[in-house]
Amino acid sequence: MPRILAIANRKGGVGKTTTTVNVATAMAAAGKKVLVIDLDPQGNASTSMGVNKKGRMTSSYEVLIGTHKLSEAIVWTEIPNFSLVPSSPDLAGAEIELVDMPKREFALKNAIAKEAVNYDYVLIDCPPSLSLVTINALVAADAVIVPLQCEFLALEGITDLIRNINVIKKNFNPRLALHGVVLTMYDKRNNLTQMVEDDVRAFFGKKVYNTVIPRNVRVSEAPSHGKPVLIYDFRCPGSQAYISLTGEVLKREKELLAC
Ligand SMILES: Nc1ncnc2c1ncn2[C@@H]1O[C@H](COP(=O)(O)OP(=O)(O)O)[C@@H](O)[C@H]1O
Ligand SMILES: [Mg+2]
Repeated sequence: MPRILAIANRKGGVGKTTTTVNVATAMAAAGKKVLVIDLDPQGNASTSMGVNKKGRMTSSYEVLIGTHKLSEAIVWTEIPNFSLVPSSPDLAGAEIELVDMPKREFALKNAIAKEAVNYDYVLIDCPPSLSLVTINALVAADAVIVPLQCEFLALEGITDLIRNINVIKKNFNPRLALHGVVLTMYDKRNNLTQMVEDDVRAFFGKKVYNTVIPRNVRVSEAPSHGKPVLIYDFRCPGSQAYISLTGEVLKREKELLAC
């Protein structure tokens, strides 16, 4: 069975999608078979990978509401070892359809369990909410990676998420772990960045990855070229940081599996 990692934070624009796509790329380059599931109705992970909706593709929406199998929604990307389940704007309405379903919190978990046996990693790019869609991701996941932007009130949104992780752990998924917190769009010239970093490291301790992702214009350019920044500009500081982060993620995987 694959290891399943959800990339989540209730806030939008903190680097969830960028982290999902680039950690997945670095994992694929390291020889892991990776599946990214785009669970955000905005579909930024799909667009970032150059997967555009031509006609009507089967998406994570159909998988979630159970009309299609996961395998029917998987598309290959240009990167070897990296496949993707695209999202659809319909996902925004999945909430309402899920409410009446039996075992509604387990829809994604069950879909993955039957169909993703050939992957080493499944990374789930969550929407910026604590909706039933996100709950499905957290119920399916072994662990959560939380991207956090060093800005005022950064900790506020994250304490909600931690509370939610604990509720899901208690009620649906006892194995769910916090994988780690990654500081994104890091700007060392900004005093606030340093203050927030100190707070976050004091609060989460070793759970904060040593690697920080610098604010880097190449990272923000890459999605419009339909490529992860690792492919768009391998040498830029953002790419190098994502390689280093992925090394830490894989190392921590060994530690998590050992305990
Ligand atoms: N390290 C970075 N440097 C510069 N821009 C970034 C960086 N990480 C993300 N961005 C940009 O910030 C915006 C939000 O990032 P994104 O990953 O889409 O966040 P989320 O998925 O949490 O909404 C995007 O336009 C993205 O290209
Ligand atoms: Mg996103």
